[in-house]
Amino acid sequence: MTATAAERRLIEHVDRIEAEQPPIPLDTVDFTVLRPDVLRERFGATLDYLARVELEVDRNVLELNAMLPDPPEIDVRFYREVWHAQEIQHGLILDKLQTIVGRPPTSPDTESVSAKMRILGAISHFSPIQDITRMLYYLTGMSTERSAVLAYNKLHAGMADIGEKAIADTVVAPIRRQEPPHYAFYKLSAVGLASRLSPWQAWLVRRLRMLSWGPVGANNTEQKADFGGVLTTLGMRDNLADFGEEISRVERDLLFEKKRGLAVPSYVTDALREAIVLHDARSNRLHGS
Ligand SMILES: [Fe+2]
Ligand SMILES: [Fe+2]
Repeated sequence: MTATAAERRLIEHVDRIEAEQPPIPLDTVDFTVLRPDVLRERFGATLDYLARVELEVDRNVLELNAMLPDPPEIDVRFYREVWHAQEIQHGLILDKLQTIVGRPPTSPDTESVSAKMRILGAISHFSPIQDITRMLYYLTGMSTERSAVLAYNKLHAGMADIGEKAIADTVVAPIRRQEPPHYAFYKLSAVGLASRLSPWQAWLVRRLRMLSWGPVGANNTEQKADFGGVLTTLGMRDNLADFGEEISRVERDLLFEKKRGLAVPSYVTDALREAIVLHDARSNRLHGS
């Protein structure tokens, strides 16, 4: 596929998302909760985590503005005009739900762009570096969106299990439906760019992923433990390898082509395991065992 054909495909994809999936209108959501205590006990912390991550897209846009001095037009359109509005609405809906069941609203960090991002942005004025930064953005986008779909699948089943049908059908299902097209955007972008990276660029992308990979929304020890809690609540801790495989398969194939078919990159499994260990240590501390 020529670069132009690939670009056209991306533009069509974004057009389609925009036309077919507007941000979820609030009046389509039925916030009826039959047993607020049960929902809060079971999924409260998970709702908070998901709401926070969704609302932090405000910061993600600032990060992208700082990291990519000269991004492709379609990227800017996607993240400023399409993706951002959808994700914010996911966050607002989930956050409202957690307040309905008696929890405080989440406290997202919507402003702090790290020094690391700013440095990346500064050196990205040199265009071969910007390609590396873009690749990191697409890879992060893929693992984030895939994680979201898996989490919402489990959350949907969990809400149905505890009998909260309105929440499963009008909160979780519509949100879940909007995540796969985001994943597809990043995948199309990553596959297109990967074929144009030189060996040194690809090498650097691999090194940077090894050094910096983390689960979505887990930017400090506390948040890593929170993520371990989400994996535990959603029943994914016993299948960590499967979860890791799902969220990193394309990344592995693009970055470690010679090892195609081999295991999940160890930086993914290690980070997931660390989240579980931190979560367990924290709950042991809280429960005094
Ligand atoms: Fe979302
Ligand atoms: Fe998304």
